[in-house]
Amino acid sequence: MKTAAPAASNPATSDLERELLQRFAALSADRRDLLARSAEVARGLGSSLYWVGGGVRDLWLGADTVDIDLVVEGDVASFSERLADCLSATGVRASQFMTVELSTPEGLRFDLAAARTELYPHPASLPVVAPASIAEDLFRRDFSINCLALPLAPDFGGQIIDPCGGLADIADGRLRILHAGSFRDDPTRLFRLVEFAARFKFRVEEATASAAESAIAGGAVEQLSSARLGAALRRALERRELAGRILQELVRLDLLESVVPGLSEEDGAAACARFARALSATVDWTPGTDPFRLAMLALSLELDDDRRRRLARRVDLVATDLAVVVEGPARIREAMARLQARPSASQAHLALRDLFVEELAVMASDSADTARWALQELTEMRPLRLSIGGRDLLAAGLLPGPEVGRALERTLRARIDGRIPAAGELEFALRAADGLDPDFSRREPE
Ligand code: CTP
Repeated sequence: MKTAAPAASNPATSDLERELLQRFAALSADRRDLLARSAEVARGLGSSLYWVGGGVRDLWLGADTVDIDLVVEGDVASFSERLADCLSATGVRASQFMTVELSTPEGLRFDLAAARTELYPHPASLPVVAPASIAEDLFRRDFSINCLALPLAPDFGGQIIDPCGGLADIADGRLRILHAGSFRDDPTRLFRLVEFAARFKFRVEEATASAAESAIAGGAVEQLSSARLGAALRRALERRELAGRILQELVRLDLLESVVPGLSEEDGAAACARFARALSATVDWTPGTDPFRLAMLALSLELDDDRRRRLARRVDLVATDLAVVVEGPARIREAMARLQARPSASQAHLALRDLFVEELAVMASDSADTARWALQELTEMRPLRLSIGGRDLLAAGLLPGPEVGRALERTLRARIDGRIPAAGELEFALRAADGLDPDFSRREPE
């Protein structure tokens, strides 16, 4: 990537400075303390230190929490060692990229890096980095709104270094890349573009939009490794309140087609609609639902087995994500079939209890009768906990053995079916263990 010397900082109007001071004063005490102590350490070493990137953008936007990314001109290793000592912080160093991640004992995490340039040996590769000035470091970045630095040492605060007009773009709500090859160098920025546009409600500047379109049409995303593509997609979809709009935009820009080759317009639209329904059907009760996983499942439901597996490989899914995307559609089909047989509540629970919440979310947003059971499983049946445990049964004289577990299981089913109140659990469980409960003459669901 080509770099250029930065233009002079914005002329510091007293309004801007006042505003900056106000924003600074509004930072949490631990962040202000961290910045002040970092500056002190840098001064001691004679290094120049800056707070850079998205944290400065968010400071300017008045966000509640801001990330702290520090850049030092000079030797990041000795700076990070001194700072870690001073803060009793622990750190992880990625020497290849000249970065260090530190955590303070109070739980504040922040990044340190040497000011550096990045050279992309070929499109979508990881960059080769080399030490540079803060000016060059800013010019290697993605969007003008992230091309900002606040000097911390030798002089603290003052004004934001803004060589690319980032503050004006923030004021105008505009997303702009710094050079035409930006998306080709790093196609993960295409996903960041969609995310930032939705997150800040910014519009995309014309030249940036056409650079994005031509990078997508030129197959930039296909060149990303599956690990980087998966991480970019996950990041784009991790905010629940924005995820529906972002998935739609990814489809509109054909970015999703780069992930699932040959994805038709109808299938993309169907996945978006299903995702939006599942998100809104579950809005009150599943704060723990993973929006990325839910989006991948919505997409997977439009694909055949083979393409489902290819999607999972392409975005590097593992563990639960992989299970949901590859096996979720079959699990949902099977559960729906079991629910056709007019089940009791506890039979419905048995049919649904092994499903992941995202699978239930998809079922709950369906118009079929089974949606009612999926919702009930999520809101009532799954959260239900007995007030007794095995220990209570042993204390009441039962001998240890599998019968204890079975009695508890039967008691849970009786509670789910509303056959006993919470206060009757112990009595019911003991009768169940003795085989005395009259209800057992009925066939128990398996
Ligand atoms: N950056 C970049 N290109 C990328 C990723 C990051 O140029 N593909 C730069 C940007 O300057 C960004 C900074 O690295 O501000 C830090 O990256 P990250 O923490 O991922 O992004 P933020 O902009 O801070 O976003 P968030 O608020 O979501 O953390």
